[in-house]
Amino acid sequence: MEKAIQVKGLQKSFKDKEVLKGVDFEVKRGEIFALLGSNGAGKTTIVRILTTLLKPDSGTATINGFDVMSKPDNVRQAISLTGQFAAVDEILTGRENLILIAKLRHLKNPRQVADHMLKRFGLTDAADRKASTYSGGMRRRLDIALSLVGKPEIIFLDEPTTGLDPESRIEVWKTVKELAAGGTTILLTTQYLEEAEQLADRIAILHEGKIIASGTLTELKKLFPKAKVEYVEKQPSLEEIFLAIVGKKEAM
Ligand SMILES: Nc1ncnc2c1ncn2[C@@H]1O[C@H](COP(=O)(O)OP(=O)(O)OP(=O)(O)O)[C@@H](O)[C@H]1O
Ligand SMILES: [Mg+2]
Repeated sequence: MEKAIQVKGLQKSFKDKEVLKGVDFEVKRGEIFALLGSNGAGKTTIVRILTTLLKPDSGTATINGFDVMSKPDNVRQAISLTGQFAAVDEILTGRENLILIAKLRHLKNPRQVADHMLKRFGLTDAADRKASTYSGGMRRRLDIALSLVGKPEIIFLDEPTTGLDPESRIEVWKTVKELAAGGTTILLTTQYLEEAEQLADRIAILHEGKIIASGTLTELKKLFPKAKVEYVEKQPSLEEIFLAIVGKKEAM
């Protein structure tokens, strides 16, 4: 079956700074895929390339089989993006934000779509308040709701929980899990190892311009040096795996 996202040999430099040095990965349909990396690793750069906002220097990326460079319109029809910084209009109410997007997407019944989304994301009570009065978690939920108007098959969430308190973070996790259960493919970026561990079917670690490890959590755990596992009673955390892999690569 055709992959939802396929990335091969992606390279991107800004001036003489090489950010992506040949990135390869694939995401299957209906999967939650987490791209894990430190600040400045190039996560947002990858998301911007995959959502047709930025051109790579070389390599290919396809979304539902459509090339992001030669078929950007087909790609845009299949996707939505929740950026690293919220796209919510603070002056508008939650409901008005949703209606605006539904109109921009040329949907026939913007009011109904807005009602449905408000209900689905637990925002009905706050629907007619300005978004500026929302908590961080509510704003993020509204942001995700906005990106789902028009039922995209594939959604990109760039650091969906950065800056949220633990409770709001759990709320967003729940939403992401529900979306995936409904068949949506999700690529999310995160700096939080626990987030990847909680949510992702598969995880890729981006470090110094390349994917240095990828797989399910179980597969990644196998990469962890065996000797250590024997001495430690609990399973290694993803953080330990991450540090072990990053450290190992740097030593090479
Ligand atoms: N338009 C640009 N012009 C110049 N440099 C850029 C540009 N966009 C990104 N960069 C640089 O590319 C590198 C990767 O940036 P990117 O935003 O992709 O990282 P990130 O992994 O998303 O980081 P963060 O976790 O902080 O969001 C950084 O060093 C950044 O300064
Ligand atoms: Mg980023």
